[in-house]
Formats: sequence, C-alpha cells, structure tokens
Amino acid sequence: MCGIVGYAGPQAKAPSSRPVDVALQGLARLEYRGYDSAGVAVIDDGSVRVTKRAGKLANLRAALEGDTETTGRVAIAHTRWATHGGPTDTNAHPHLGGREGEIAVVHNGIIENFAHLRAELEADGYLFASETDSEAAAHLVAREMETAGDLTEAMRRAAASLEGAFTLLAVHRDAPDTVVAARRNSPLVVGLGEGENFLGSDVAAFVDSTKEALEIGQDQVVTVTADDVRIIDFEGHEVTDAKRYTIEWDAAAAQKGGYPSFMAKEIHEQASAVADTLLGRLEDGALQLDEMDIDPSVLRSVDKIVVVACGTAANAGAVAKYAIEHWCRIPTEVELAHEFRYRDPVVTEKTLVVAISQSGETMDTLMAVRHAREQGAKVIAICNTRGSTIPRESDAALYLHVGPEIAVASTKAYLGQIAACYLLGLFLAQVRGNLYPDEIAALMGDLEQIPEQIQQVLDSSAQVEKLAQDMKDATSVLFLGRHVGYPTAMEGALKLKEIAYIHAEGFAAGELKHGPIALVEEGQPVFVIVPSPNGRHSLHSKVVSNIQEVRARGARTLVIAEEGDDAVLPYADEVIRVPATRTLFAALLTVIPLQIFSCELATAKGLDVDQPRNLAKSVTVE
Ligand code: AGP
Repeated sequence: MCGIVGYAGPQAKAPSSRPVDVALQGLARLEYRGYDSAGVAVIDDGSVRVTKRAGKLANLRAALEGDTETTGRVAIAHTRWATHGGPTDTNAHPHLGGREGEIAVVHNGIIENFAHLRAELEADGYLFASETDSEAAAHLVAREMETAGDLTEAMRRAAASLEGAFTLLAVHRDAPDTVVAARRNSPLVVGLGEGENFLGSDVAAFVDSTKEALEIGQDQVVTVTADDVRIIDFEGHEVTDAKRYTIEWDAAAAQKGGYPSFMAKEIHEQASAVADTLLGRLEDGALQLDEMDIDPSVLRSVDKIVVVACGTAANAGAVAKYAIEHWCRIPTEVELAHEFRYRDPVVTEKTLVVAISQSGETMDTLMAVRHAREQGAKVIAICNTRGSTIPRESDAALYLHVGPEIAVASTKAYLGQIAACYLLGLFLAQVRGNLYPDEIAALMGDLEQIPEQIQQVLDSSAQVEKLAQDMKDATSVLFLGRHVGYPTAMEGALKLKEIAYIHAEGFAAGELKHGPIALVEEGQPVFVIVPSPNGRHSLHSKVVSNIQEVRARGARTLVIAEEGDDAVLPYADEVIRVPATRTLFAALLTVIPLQIFSCELATAKGLDVDQPRNLAKSVTVE
C-alpha cells in the first residue's frame, strides 16, 4: 500500500524539471497510499543519491530544501506504509543495494521469502542497514547485476526468485538514463509523456504531466528511459500487447477545491458522483451495462451470489444483499474478502461473485477474486479505478465513475458502490425476468431522483456540523439500524473510528436486547437510522421501539428519520431529516449525516481528516 513513483526524462534544464522535483510532485499525489516515511533516489554524476525521512512528505521536502545542485535524468521515490520494521529514517525507502551502494530500490508489497534471502545475502557479504524485507530485494538485484551486467536482466532474475507481492523500481549508477521496474500482485502503471516517461502505483502519480498510460501485467518487467518503454515477462519474453489507455480523471479533481479536507470535498461531491454512476445506463427503457460482458445465459444460470469486499466496500455489499435478494430472488451472501478463501466456501460454476473495491487493488479482495475464479465462478468487479488489478482479473467490471477518491475514509465511492450494486441487481432482474420492464423503469426513475435528494441533505448539513462540534469530547458513540439501516449504522461507526479515533459500534437494532444494550448508560449518544414509515410499517415501528428502549436507559438519541415522520419526535433528543424515498434507496441518504458528523468532529478535534493514523487508502498487503 505504499506509493511509488519513477521518472525518466532529459537532462534537467530548469530546476522544476529536475527528476527529484518531478518525483516529489508524484509523491504528493500518492501520499494517501502511505505516509509514515518518504524518500527519493536519483542518479547524478555517476553516483546514487538517496534522501529519506520518517514522517510525512513535508519532512522529506524540508531535507531537500536548498539542494539545487542535484540534476540527473532519472529518479525513483516512495511514500511508505510500514509492514516490516517501524517508520524510521533507516527503514524508509529507497534502499541502497550492492557492495558499494551502486543501486537504489523502492518496493511496495511484502516479500515472503525475505528472511531466507537476507541470510543468504549476508553470508555473501552484503550488509543490511534496515529491518525491511525490501532491502533484500535491493541487494538481490545488485547481486544479479554483477553477473548479468544489464539492469533489466538483473531485475528479471531477481523478481523471478522472489515470493509474495511486490512492485519494485530500481536505478543503478551504471545506467543513468534508465528506471527498471517489476510487478507481481501489486500495482504498477506507466505514464507515457513526450520525451519523458513515468511509473506510478497509480495514475495519480503522473496525471499532471500525461494522460496516456500503459498497463503492466502480472509478472512483467518494464524498462523505461525518456524515449522508450520496453516490457518483458519474468521468463524473458518480449511483451507487445500491453494495453494503452487514456486517463479520464482531471488533475484538478485531485485538488481540495476550497474545502478544508479532501474528505469534506468528496462528501460534497456525492450528488454528482451518484448521478455519474447512474448516467447513461437506461436506453429505450432497458438497462444497459456496457461493461457487463458475461453471457446472459450464464447470468440466468446463477444460483447464488457471493459479495466479497472489505471495510466500507463490504458495508456497500451488505446493502446490495437486501436489494439483490428482493429484486432477483437469488440467495446472496456478503463476506469479508479476507475470510472468504480461508473457510473453504462453497463456490461453483453457478456462483456469481461480486467483488467491490474502490481502488481495485485491495489484496484481500484480489485474493478472493482469484480463489473464486479458480473454483469456476464468474466474477464481476464493482470498482472506481480503471486499469486496476481487480477489474482486470475479473470476468466483467462495473465502474463507479465517481472520480478519484483521495481521503483515506471512503465516502463518495461508498455511495457510488451502492448505486452500482442497485444497477447490478436491476440488471440481473431484467436478464432473468424477475421484474417487468415498467417495474425496472419505475425503480430507475426513483433512483434518478436520489442525486437531487443527496444535495438536499448536503444543503442542510449545518445542524449535524453543530452537533459534531458540541460532541467533540465524546468517548463512545453507538449506531443502530435495521434492514439497510444496519449497514448504514456499521458505516457510521467505521467512519467515526477511522478518522476521529472514537470508540464506536454499529448494531442491528434488533440485536440490542441480546447484549449491546448493557453498554447504554446516562448520556450515551446513540444514532438511530429510522426506515421510512411508508410501506414498511412494522419495520418502522420496531425501530421506534428500539429508540424508546435506549432512551429509557438514559441514552441521548440522535435520530435520522424521513421528513414528515413524526412518530419519532417523542423519543428523539435530536432529529436529522432526510428526504423520503424507497426503503432500499434510503441507504444513499441516511449515511450522509453520519459522514458529515465524523468529518466535522475529527476536524474539530484538530485531527488529520484525510490521512488518519495507521491507515492507508489502498491496502495492497494481505
Ligand atoms: C474506508 O473508509 C476505509 N478506508 C476502508 O475500509 C476501505 O473501504 C477498504 O480498505 C476497502 O478498500 P477498497 O474499496 O479500495 O477495496
């Protein structure tokens, strides 16, 4: 989950075009991937120059301030999320390798056979400075270089003998115009510029400079100079069919746009985000999902759906279960991706696996996808990031089109995931004949109203912001919901934990009396997500009873309810209103006050909302 940048260009003429500056600019865009240390290496005047610092990128910038001398033609850089060894200067990347520090390497992933390699390399006389697995890769490439005499071949041999997940980038003092990279189970893309080329963990690394990109496949080595990009596989065969594509995201989309944090900006983009997810899906009264290249006969034969995902994406999956089972009558399980393959799940050729991942790089979800496909299941990815690994390894992909999500805490992607799941459910119902065309059109009509309703919720955010400021010293907050309100409660609690560091729990409201109600004491804040009273009266009245139960035990009840639902008034200390919609679609509205609450509360506490402690945006290790 670290961020990696590589650059190869002409000999720098202006200070801003120095490889070191280009690399720092790329790191700034990737800092969300990991931010406990950062470093950069350049080949300058026949030697490898490395600067690295623990802490955020600002520390590295400070260390490089005043250095206007370093030029060169290539740079590699890294922003780290620690796995092996704490976040120190020494453990930061790049790592020097070789007997004289003639090579520098950056690494994302985990090298599983590093202990064995390290022992072997130490016996060979290579000296280790850090506690990382990555330093073994640096020495290994250097050792292969001694016999191969060519950096590409050295990288190929080294990569082929590594086990685990890795993206590696290397520069060598004897190849001052070349960056060589290799990947296995870890992301890497090439940015194709004019007289300069880039490497990145994702396109954000270079989208300022070029929108042309090249996908690097599994087990491939890429050699990049200012004018050339060559790819081989780990067996040494040339790769000529790498996929070139144009990046749709605008560089400005990755800026804060006047908001105090990326998270605040992304929350406020949700009306247009959901509109973009839904855009252009209905043609001549029929739902068209262009990316869905799985034969309809296969979709008709599906007898079980398993949704695999992690964190927020799993909460979106939990909402999907209610929709898909209701519309399609297909039994649907939702499983945390990291649990999926270890329990020997029952997956057959008639199972449809839906993998939800904003980044498309979450290793736990990727491994679940691979396991499902090995069992013969078809996999549909619901993803936001084009060119990422999960959609590439799936049978079909449904993209969110919500634009880049930079804040570690997922918000607009969550809404996009839920909207995409609704589209998938309705599409399956259409293909399998579970719903009539007019029923699908009516549901789509209501769904298309949602962006406007999201905007109404956003426009009335002042009440929740004030509540969050008043509650900034809270130490525990509970969240209750039923039906799609249950995953909403889970998501509300997750948001508060991850960015405000407050103990928070989300419960199915019916579970309350089976244990959690013991937590309720005088003044305990409890958010309750109330379903619409229209059409699901018994569901609504059960939740109203739950509000009464916690209030009777002293809870401070913070109730999210539909406009006009007055039944909650006698039992609510605070009522937060959302517009009326179908019970299923309310998941796209009721979570928004909870997102705003967490964002505002964390801001009021003076915390780093976009880069919470211990977390990274993209979890590319298992
Ligand atoms: C969301 O706020 C979290 N940061 C996290 O739970 C995230 O949703 C999870 O790691 C899955 O990420 P993905 O969607 O990129 O696969």
